[in-house]
Amino acid sequence: MTSESKPDRADPLMEWREEFPVLSRCTYLASHSLGAMPASVYSQLRSYADLWATEGVAAWETWLPMVNRTGDLLAKIIGAQSGEILMLQNVSLAQSIIASCFDFSAPRNKVIYTSLNFPSVHYVWQAQKRRGARVEVIPSEDGIGVPAERIIDAIDEETLILPLSHVYFRSAYLQDTRSIIEAAHRKGALVVLDSYQAVGTVPIDVKDLGVDFLVGGSVKWLCGGAGAAYLYASKEVAERFQPVVTGWFSHARPFDFDMDEMEYAPGVQRFMGGTPSVPSLYTARAGYEIIREVGVDRIREKSKRQTGRLLEGAKEMGLDLHTPTDADRRGGSVTVNFPEAEGVHDELNRRGFIVDYRPEAGIRISPHFYTSDEEIEAVLEEIRRLRTN
Ligand SMILES: Cc1ncc(COP(=O)(O)O)c(C=O)c1O
Repeated sequence: MTSESKPDRADPLMEWREEFPVLSRCTYLASHSLGAMPASVYSQLRSYADLWATEGVAAWETWLPMVNRTGDLLAKIIGAQSGEILMLQNVSLAQSIIASCFDFSAPRNKVIYTSLNFPSVHYVWQAQKRRGARVEVIPSEDGIGVPAERIIDAIDEETLILPLSHVYFRSAYLQDTRSIIEAAHRKGALVVLDSYQAVGTVPIDVKDLGVDFLVGGSVKWLCGGAGAAYLYASKEVAERFQPVVTGWFSHARPFDFDMDEMEYAPGVQRFMGGTPSVPSLYTARAGYEIIREVGVDRIREKSKRQTGRLLEGAKEMGLDLHTPTDADRRGGSVTVNFPEAEGVHDELNRRGFIVDYRPEAGIRISPHFYTSDEEIEAVLEEIRRLRTN
């Protein structure tokens, strides 16, 4: 056992377990997909319904400001300023809104990303080819990651934007985004970072990174509900753009119901479009508050240790490791593969070890701050048993 994987006997994060009902029913290792639900979601949704039931249309006086307030809670987690994060329904929509800002008929119309991006994001940018975009997808040689230099080498004066994945969903490879962002800016290109698999488990400071746009959602490491994605852009960056995908809440004064030319709202607000998904804001808040209180630095430290132990155990069993062994190069998950992995995954789930399986990758296992070291040993032991049976 290496020092990275030495168990911490007095883990203060274990105190949080009782906040998550699912943890008493199973060994929950699927936070890369859907984080455990905080018990406070019950009362959050109750307040949503109570407000609607008692206030009727006046509830909007609370609900509309919640779009910004929820973004502000997240801002504290990723180092953004108040008012720089807009809540949207999903990452696909956020990327489409960003893509709609560009005129691809100009010579600078190249879009660059890697073959390990989440497919939804790939589809959004592939669709821009119909609008004139030239899209270059850099292949991964090992299916795990793409060295930053390969991406940097592809950036030229005709590169418009790089919709990059921060942590690859199949392998948990943590991209060196800083050097890519710097290189992109040197050539006059923009970067939109999909940090869905990073926020809540990898510390991020958007100002320090200097990223132009950052998008993600709530249901994974942030332990929030579905329908609460987010888009970060500083006021300076946001106000350079006028999205074609739009709606009345993108207008500077939506309640003027003005039928003249669009006058975009200031800052990131101009990307809002139509009516927000209000219940999801309540469910997102519950998770954000907990993650902020626990602290992403502490989550990261524990995650490195537990994912390190999982990789070590998998290596002892001779499994293929589909995740970087360098802790600084991986996010919160571990993916392991072997010929009978899909069937073993089915059986693990039947036995109460909640993991998932992805083709071309293997079994994804994700401890989070609420995972005990005993659970890590138990899932390793179960895989060992299932493989020998
Ligand atoms: C990295 C990443 N991006 C995007 C998505 C999906 O985004 P959405 O469904 O919000 O469009 C996922 C979902 O698993 C993901 O892992």
